[in-house]
Amino acid sequence: MTAYTLHVNGSERHFDTPRETSLLHLLRNDCGLNGPKYGCGLGQCGSCTVLVDGVAARSCVVPAHGVAGRHITTLEGLGTREAPHPVQQAFIDAQAAQCGYCLNGMVMATVALLARVPAPTQQQVRAELSHNLCRCGTHLEVLDAVQRAARRCAEGRP
Ligand code: FES
Ligand code: FES
Repeated sequence: MTAYTLHVNGSERHFDTPRETSLLHLLRNDCGLNGPKYGCGLGQCGSCTVLVDGVAARSCVVPAHGVAGRHITTLEGLGTREAPHPVQQAFIDAQAAQCGYCLNGMVMATVALLARVPAPTQQQVRAELSHNLCRCGTHLEVLDAVQRAARRCAEGRP
């Protein structure tokens, strides 16, 4: 067992888990945060994406103890149903979901992208999200959502 502390969605949390516990399992099983999804478990689909100190990371392949002391943000840490994050609102407006399984990864990757590149080109968006898999084929709506999100953030709109 390994003891460590993480900052999860703004709260300091203490854990004592087996060394092989992934960040995804810790968040879902110990923190009850089901925004990040288990898809491939191999770091290939993006459905488990969270932010580690603001950078997108695939939590299924990150050992939880390996990010001790870092700030973790999950989908739940972005906004609420009443007051969604601008990126969440943009995805709603663009109706960029069918089954929704990929949506966590698409949203979290977009938040990370816009923090680095506030007005990305279509090419930059495609490159950033090219390894976030959507089996339902919502790619065009997702591209639209990212551009809507960039405009919302630039205008300071919620
Ligand atoms: S579940 Fe983590 S990348 Fe697929
Ligand atoms: S909406 Fe179903 S996997 Fe993307």
